[in-house]
Amino acid sequence: MYLTREEEEMYEGAEGPAVQKSMEILVALGDIYEAEKLVDITSAQISGVSYKTIGDAGLEFLEALGQDAHVRVPSTLNPAGVDLEFWKELGFSEEFTKKQLRIVKAYQKMGVTTTCTCTPYLVGNVPRLGDHIAWSESSAVCYANSVLGAKSNREGGPGALSAAICGKTAEYGYHLDEHRKANFIVEVEANLKGADYGALGYLIGKTVGDGVPYFKLLTCTPSINDLKYLGAALASSGAVALYHVEQATPEYKDAIKDVNLEEIEKIAVNRKYIDETRHELSTSDRKPDLICLGCPHVSLDEIKTISNKLVGKKLKNQLWVCTSISVNAIADRMGYTKIIEDAGGKIVCDTCMVVAPIEELGFEVIGVDSAKAANYIPTMCGLDVIFDDFEKLIQIK
Ligand code: F3S
Repeated sequence: MYLTREEEEMYEGAEGPAVQKSMEILVALGDIYEAEKLVDITSAQISGVSYKTIGDAGLEFLEALGQDAHVRVPSTLNPAGVDLEFWKELGFSEEFTKKQLRIVKAYQKMGVTTTCTCTPYLVGNVPRLGDHIAWSESSAVCYANSVLGAKSNREGGPGALSAAICGKTAEYGYHLDEHRKANFIVEVEANLKGADYGALGYLIGKTVGDGVPYFKLLTCTPSINDLKYLGAALASSGAVALYHVEQATPEYKDAIKDVNLEEIEKIAVNRKYIDETRHELSTSDRKPDLICLGCPHVSLDEIKTISNKLVGKKLKNQLWVCTSISVNAIADRMGYTKIIEDAGGKIVCDTCMVVAPIEELGFEVIGVDSAKAANYIPTMCGLDVIFDDFEKLIQIK
């Protein structure tokens, strides 16, 4: 791989051991994927934060790296394993939390903004169309590539952190326009609403693997939130990093320009497939004892919708609405938090139902409106899930 003189110096250690180690990782990745060169990035999103997923080895690695590493581009952080402020009230252990706080502190020391959210694009990390970035949360990568038109591969945590420390990443995959073309056409013959978008994403992700699907929707115009759930599901049942929606995402015209549409595989999805997938995503027919919304983390808009449903009501089952502290701050100011709390629900910040150790809190069946969460909770938490629209999951006294 070609390196500029400045990059060679970084590789040889002129800027210290952390930069050298990070350059070695970037060059190794570049060699594996046959990149010709490195490219400057404008931002990073770094995963590998929850103590539940990275453990003591990850914590020690980050603390050691943090001795002399510093990020060079705006960098934001994925969710942690607990709500950093209200962990005790939610029932998380002190032992887990202490280690979790050390991990977040290690990132902070490196200059990473400790947003602790998987929706960095809702809290100020908003790349422009065509920007090269290095993001490592699969749902966020899918959103950045597809909805914002930025360019990122599905980085792992160490790859994104190395890119943030060097301000560069290897130029291969979705950084190159030829890999951003559609290679599946998905004709959706059903009107979609709510959790249907996640079900569609889950179904298509399983079929296309790491392909680039191009959706033709019937009549509906997906909202930003719908696209968030579609992408998260595509990226969890498959390895999709980029999708296009006709008339809705910024690169949809380029995605099929100069492509022989006759040769592209077509997939037709009707109401029956969507309903079967919705059914398949539930692992139990018991009533959920905890409803968890916000996978990916909810937007302010979604919190408003949830609070509107709960005005003056009391919930029968427990409710967590997972989001970032930034979105929560505005929800507080708007009075949405109070309405949700008065109904018996909680807004949970910095973490989520998958990366938090919820299996230790005594819950058995989790209700979710996210296909990604429904896909991961049984394997990562060992609990049952019910997948449905949130209006149907919530039970009022
Ligand atoms: Fe985010 Fe957790 Fe889902 S990190 S995308 S809420 S699994």
